[in-house]
Amino acid sequence: MKLALITGGAGAVGAATARMLASDGFSVVLADRAAGPAEALAAEIRRDHGVEAVVEALDLADISTLGPMIGRVAARFGRLDCLVNNAGRTGASKIAEVDLDEWAAILAINLTAPMVLVREAVALMRGSGGGSIVNVASRVYLSGTGVGYTSSKSGLIGLTRALAVQLGKDGIRVNAVAPSFLNSPFNKGIVDANKGLADAFRKFTPLDRLGTPADVAGAIAFLASDRASFITGDVLHVCGGAQLAPQPV
Ligand SMILES: NC(=O)c1ccc[n+]([C@@H]2O[C@H](COP(=O)([O-])OP(=O)(O)OC[C@H]3O[C@@H](n4cnc5c(N)ncnc54)[C@H](O)[C@@H]3O)[C@@H](O)[C@H]2O)c1
Repeated sequence: MKLALITGGAGAVGAATARMLASDGFSVVLADRAAGPAEALAAEIRRDHGVEAVVEALDLADISTLGPMIGRVAARFGRLDCLVNNAGRTGASKIAEVDLDEWAAILAINLTAPMVLVREAVALMRGSGGGSIVNVASRVYLSGTGVGYTSSKSGLIGLTRALAVQLGKDGIRVNAVAPSFLNSPFNKGIVDANKGLADAFRKFTPLDRLGTPADVAGAIAFLASDRASFITGDVLHVCGGAQLAPQPV
């Protein structure tokens, strides 16, 4: 049995990832504050894939809960083969509007929680013979969209590189995926505020469509698999080529 822990496991990308990893034979832990949707997804995964699927309902911003969660995973499953740091939030867009509480909240979820989770989980992964950590960053590290969000996701890529160097000898690979603008509820607020935005993103994307949560899940499942056995410290762009176009035209 292989086990994957997915933060934000009830959201668009997290749920697609959980389903894909389950279809690849992973049992899954869905760590999300949205307990209801997470429980419904866990039931669906148990039914459809015949693997174990459990929920850890918690607020990732409360760092004190992360160690005990990994402790429960260790007690129940005795191993951890894959950690997907997927939960994230946006905000703090323009420098003149940055609110320090919001800035701290973005960094807490997008950067601090992934770091603490890895710190807490590394012994369990080492004991499992190694594993794969996948951090969900964003194309914004290239395009520079939104002060707090871009800073947190750029930091997450820096964390990815540092961890890849430090954990390689433990057989733990650490990579990031960098999706572009997705067709998902995550963007509802900015799409509602700017009706032309989604179409603008499609137009400068060489593959001429928006990405989907399943597109991102496919890249994560690849990095989690033995097919990526010699890949670490990398950023896989899931952008339909939009990583080559720095700004919407
Ligand atoms: N949607 C996009 O366009 C896009 C593009 C690039 C990168 N990303 C990144 O992909 C990741 C997933 O995005 P998504 O589109 O699936 O978003 P989503 O809003 O659908 O899902 C996010 C999930 O994280 C959970 N979550 C958020 N804060 C939490 C907290 N403090 N504690 C516990 N759970 C928490 C939410 O409950 C939700 O289930 C994020 O890191 C996001 O930054 C998204």
